[in-house]
Amino acid sequence: MATFIMRQLDEIRNLVGEDFRAYQGQFRAMIKTPVPLLSIVLQYLVSRKGKQVRPLFVLLSAAVSGGITARSHRAATLIELLHTATLLHDDVVDDSYQRRGGFTINALWKNKVSVLAGDYLLSRGLLLSLDNDDCHLLKIASQATQQMSEGELLQIERARKLDMDEPAYLEIIRKKTASLIAACCAIGAASAGAPEHNIEKMRLVGEKIGMAFQIKDDLLDYEKTNALGKPTAADLKEKKITLPMIYTLNQADSKTKKRIIRTIKRHNNNPEKIRELIEIVRNNGGMEYAVRKMEKLKDEAKELLGDFPPSAELQALKKLVDFTIERKK
Ligand code: IPE
Ligand code: IPE
Ligand code: MG
Ligand code: MG
Repeated sequence: MATFIMRQLDEIRNLVGEDFRAYQGQFRAMIKTPVPLLSIVLQYLVSRKGKQVRPLFVLLSAAVSGGITARSHRAATLIELLHTATLLHDDVVDDSYQRRGGFTINALWKNKVSVLAGDYLLSRGLLLSLDNDDCHLLKIASQATQQMSEGELLQIERARKLDMDEPAYLEIIRKKTASLIAACCAIGAASAGAPEHNIEKMRLVGEKIGMAFQIKDDLLDYEKTNALGKPTAADLKEKKITLPMIYTLNQADSKTKKRIIRTIKRHNNNPEKIRELIEIVRNNGGMEYAVRKMEKLKDEAKELLGDFPPSAELQALKKLVDFTIERKK
């Protein structure tokens, strides 16, 4: 099943194969550096490839908005550089030691190296755009980066106070995750020379996809076995209350609710207690509720895409939306 889903991603990628290779070559060129330590770290980073769905969103959005150009390749590279930079920082922020099925940079080289390598990737992205007069693209990407930082900080604030409800959760995921996927779709359209209202429409499509993407990420954290390459149940250990738990807390009587909150607050490092909480969420429809929300967002995104003229690329973009919520990692 898992391989079948990953094969679907290969098929989507093959449709824009040449352009995807152009982006990949550019990405590799951007992380070349004469500084030995940085070079080793970045080599390690590219050896453990991510799914690279964001460059695909950029390229397919360009394809359905007028056609892929050399600008679209740079836009895809810029976005993946920013994404990778934010992951390097996120793993420091979250104290995470595993990603993409291996150790994180902070686990292997400590926090300082991870933070600085993240800054390096960010500045490489900025220069790539500036050197090519891609100011419009850079503006879209920078707005997303601003929102991502705001989202991460909102999340920290809420986790500290253990104060979370559905509107706050949706706001956090819109900023920390959906803003970048929204930027992928908008930047793709912009790189194809689409008019402003089309760019805005694609941004909205990407925002819905991005929110569904993070709900899926949060659901995978609750699954017994997943191929995520990240540890499971990490969110509760970090006192991160995500949608399945928000729903469960809303349904629970006040005594149960207090007990759950106390466990997250005081026993978040006790695996046995965390396992109990996961069971409670699973047995009370928390997962199903999150799945329904995620599917609604997916349907809304696809409906907006229905306004575009039919093409193989549009079909692939819709498949990529499905992949977002069906993926196992
Ligand atoms: C991880 O994104 C960060 C989130 C927004 C959940 P991906 O799942 O796209 O990460 P990689 O690049 O494929 O590892
Ligand atoms: C994703 O946040 C990273 C960003 C959006 C910057 P999370 O902390 O929820 O995601 P993972 O699980 O570490 O990938
Ligand atoms: Mg994290
Ligand atoms: Mg995080």
